[in-house]
Amino acid sequence: MSRYLVTGGAGYVGSHVVAALLGRGDAVTVIDDLSTGHRAAVLPGARLIVADLADGAAVEAAFAAARPEAVLHFAARSLVGESMRDPLGYLADNAGNGIALIRACIRHGVGRFVLSSTAALFGAPSAAPIDEDAPIAPASPYGESKWMLERALAWAGRVHGLRYAALRYFNAAGADPAGRLGEDHDPETHLIPLAIDAALGRRPPLGIFGTDYPTPDGTCIRDYVHVSDLAEAHLLALARLEQASVTYNLGSATGHSVRAVIEAVGRAAGRPVPVEAKPRRAGDPACLIAGCARIRADTGWTPRLPSLDAIVETALAWRLAHPGGYGRAKGV
Ligand SMILES: NC(=O)c1ccc[n+]([C@@H]2O[C@H](COP(=O)([O-])OP(=O)(O)OC[C@H]3O[C@@H](n4cnc5c(N)ncnc54)[C@H](O)[C@@H]3O)[C@@H](O)[C@H]2O)c1
Repeated sequence: MSRYLVTGGAGYVGSHVVAALLGRGDAVTVIDDLSTGHRAAVLPGARLIVADLADGAAVEAAFAAARPEAVLHFAARSLVGESMRDPLGYLADNAGNGIALIRACIRHGVGRFVLSSTAALFGAPSAAPIDEDAPIAPASPYGESKWMLERALAWAGRVHGLRYAALRYFNAAGADPAGRLGEDHDPETHLIPLAIDAALGRRPPLGIFGTDYPTPDGTCIRDYVHVSDLAEAHLLALARLEQASVTYNLGSATGHSVRAVIEAVGRAAGRPVPVEAKPRRAGDPACLIAGCARIRADTGWTPRLPSLDAIVETALAWRLAHPGGYGRAKGV
């Protein structure tokens, strides 16, 4: 049994990683201010400390309570558009809180750190798949804030010997196959839950932003990886840290167009997704597909639920069982 401190463990990806850690018998302490997360997403068995990472005393108390061997850092503001309106707020919160957390690790002798990084580091790359050595060119303060943390970790590693894993997710999708956890953001910005709610008549027709991209059906192509596969990658990265720091791009290495996702949701829901074609959004690249050869070679990681249909089915099952998200789960 190992002890972990998980920031943002009440959020979408963090809660699935907490589930994976608990599943193998680890002791987990979550620190989360519930700004976008949910108390009910922290499974029984984990301890939840409700606090803002900007609260230094609360972070100290969390380290004292958890006595962690490693810290997994999910907590962040992650709305790209919002970051364009509040760049310094994003840099202060994401980079500032993250650097304070890295410093706390060093003070407390915690030698391993896992960062939720992002494909947004790469801006609008010209080639696909995108491997770890692709040029870094964040197109938003959100992406920049994660790059600042990757750089801070590199220095903490070089000077203080901290081992770190920078995990650059593409699009996390789906829900816990056991039905305990799912995706519940407000506002929701992710395509699959939006398409599901449109199919179920819970929101207006889904906007397709751009139908004239240079892709086979004219819509943007993205890489979706099941959130439980992402969780598994965190466990493998933690083990890999026994040897060295690592940086991994994490996706399914497969691209699906917006229209392909909409069709998959229509198949799963048994009814079509109502859609409305809209103009392109500024800054949306045509195609983002992860190159995942490095994590596969280092750890043997391979997604267990690679098919888009399987990903969509788990997401749909959770949303059918939780029409109002965590707040109004059926029977609660
Ligand atoms: N979901 C994706 O597809 C995706 C893709 C790339 C990167 N990421 C990164 O992965 C991480 C998790 O993403 P997610 O989709 O689960 O987001 P999420 O919003 O569901 O989870 C973030 C959690 O952090 C908490 N939090 C935020 N600010 C905090 C603070 N100052 N103090 C304490 N807790 C705080 C929130 O309450 C929430 O529970 C984020 O860092 C995000 O940038 C996510």
